[in-house]
Amino acid sequence: MKKGDFCEAVVEYIEFPNKGILHIDGERVIVKNALPGQTVRFVVNKKRKGRCEGRLLEVIAPSALERKEGTCPHFGICGGCLYQSLPYEEQLRIKGQQVKDLLDEVCDFYEYEGIKGSPIFDGYRNKMEFSFGDEYKDGPLALGMHRRGSFYDIVNTPDCHIVHPDFCRILTAALTYFAERNISYYKKLQHTGYLRHLLVRRAVKTGEILVALVTSGQTAGFAEQELLAGWLDAMQKLELDGAYAGILHIRNDSLADVVQSDETTVLYGKDYFYEELLELKFRITPFSFFQTNSLGAEVLYETARSYVGETKDKVVFDLYSGTGTIAQIIAPVASKVVGVEIVAEAVEAAKENAAANGLENCEFIAGDVLKVIDEITEKPDLIILDPPRDGIHPKALEKIIDFGVDRMVYISCKPTSLARDLVTLQERGYQVVKVCAVDMFPGTANVETVCLLSRKKPDSTISI
Ligand SMILES: C[S@@+](CC[C@H](N)C(=O)[O-])C[C@H]1O[C@@H](n2cnc3c(N)ncnc32)[C@H](O)[C@@H]1O
Repeated sequence: MKKGDFCEAVVEYIEFPNKGILHIDGERVIVKNALPGQTVRFVVNKKRKGRCEGRLLEVIAPSALERKEGTCPHFGICGGCLYQSLPYEEQLRIKGQQVKDLLDEVCDFYEYEGIKGSPIFDGYRNKMEFSFGDEYKDGPLALGMHRRGSFYDIVNTPDCHIVHPDFCRILTAALTYFAERNISYYKKLQHTGYLRHLLVRRAVKTGEILVALVTSGQTAGFAEQELLAGWLDAMQKLELDGAYAGILHIRNDSLADVVQSDETTVLYGKDYFYEELLELKFRITPFSFFQTNSLGAEVLYETARSYVGETKDKVVFDLYSGTGTIAQIIAPVASKVVGVEIVAEAVEAAKENAAANGLENCEFIAGDVLKVIDEITEKPDLIILDPPRDGIHPKALEKIIDFGVDRMVYISCKPTSLARDLVTLQERGYQVVKVCAVDMFPGTANVETVCLLSRKKPDSTISI
C-alpha cells in the first residue's frame, strides 16, 4: 500500500476513541470513524515510519453488530456520535475493553472492575452547545452540530437522540425564527456575521432550563433589541416539559471558536439553574463545568466515593473541582475538603452550593492547580484528581506526588491521558490498585475511568 491507494477491507476492532483497525496483506491500517465489522472503502492518506492511516470514504456494508432501528436520524453525518448504531451492550463492551487495553499497556498488577453503564442512554445530556452555520457553502441557515470531520459545515440536529426533546424544540424554534428574518451567522474565517451558538442546559432532576443565545456584536442591518425581544417571545411561547430558569443573550466577539462572554444580558429569569445529584443541590452558571450526564454522574461519583474509602478525620484535596460536586459528596464524611478550580465563576458557585447544602468544612480556591499547590499551607491526607481531557500538567503532577499521600483517586475523561499520567505516578512510587470505567456518554466514543492509587511502602506492600 502506498499513499493515494484506494482500498476496501473489513474493520476488525476499534481503539480508543475512534480508530478502526484493519489489516491488508499483514499491514495494520487505522481508519478513523469506522466500526468493527463494517466493510469500508478508504484512501491511504498517511504512511510514515511503519504507520499507515486511511481516510474513510464509504461504508460499503454495515457491521452485523449494528442495529437496524432506533438510531438517531442524524447519525453518520453529525460529528457528535460514533457508536449510536451499536446496541448499548456492545458499546459498553467496546469501551470497557478499550480502557483495559490502554491500562494493561502501562500497569502490571491491578484489578479491573469492568465498565458501568449510564442509567439512560437516550436523552441523557444536560448541556449542548449548538453552532449556527450552513450545511453546505452558502446554504440556508443551519443550527446544530459540526458535520463529522468538518470544521465549517453544520448539520441541523432537530431530532438528536442524546438530548431531551426540549432541546430539540428550543433548537427548531430558534432556527426558524432567525432563518425567517435572514439573520447572518458568524463566519469563523472572515469574522463577520451575527449568530454564533445556542447554549442549552437542562437539569434532569429539576427540569430547569437555561438558554443562551451567543452572538457577535455585529448588528448592522437590524435592530438588535427588537430581534432579541422577538426571539425571547418565540422561546417563551414554546410548550416544554421543563421550565425556563433563565434566557440569556451573550455577546462574544472573541476571534476564537469558543463559547465565552464579553457581556451577558439576562432577558428572562436568572443566569443560573439548579441540578440535584446524590441528594445535594447544585447551582450551575452558564460556563461552569458540570458533568453532562446527570444520572451517569451519580454512578461516577458513587464509584469514586467507594474508591476514596474511609475519610473520617481526614483532609481531602479535590483538585480540578469544577462546581465542587465531588468535594461536597465527600465533605459530610471528612474532616475538611479543599477544592481547587481555575474557573472563578465555578468556584463562586461551589462556595454557594456548599453553603446551601449546609457544608461548613469545604474550602474552594480559584486558580491553576500548578500554582495553587505551592501556596496551600494545609497538607492533604488523600487526593482526588479530576483533570480536563488533557490530563495533569507534568509539573503539577510532580508537585501533587510530592504531597506523599497514601491514597489518590484519579477520575479521567480520557483514558489515553490517564495512561500517560499513570506512568509517572508508578515511577514515583504509586501502585494502581483498581480501575473501573463508567460510561457517561452513550452513543459517543467517550468514556470516564476511575482509578485508585496507593503509595507503595518501602517494603513494597501496598497501603490501602
Ligand atoms: C473534568 S472537569 C471536573 C470538574 C469536577 N470535578 C466535576 O466533576 O464536576 C475538570 C475541571 O478542571 C478545571 N481546570 C482545567 N484546568 C485547570 C487547572 N490548570 N487548574 C485548576 N482547574 C483546572 C476545569 O475548569 C474543569 O472545571
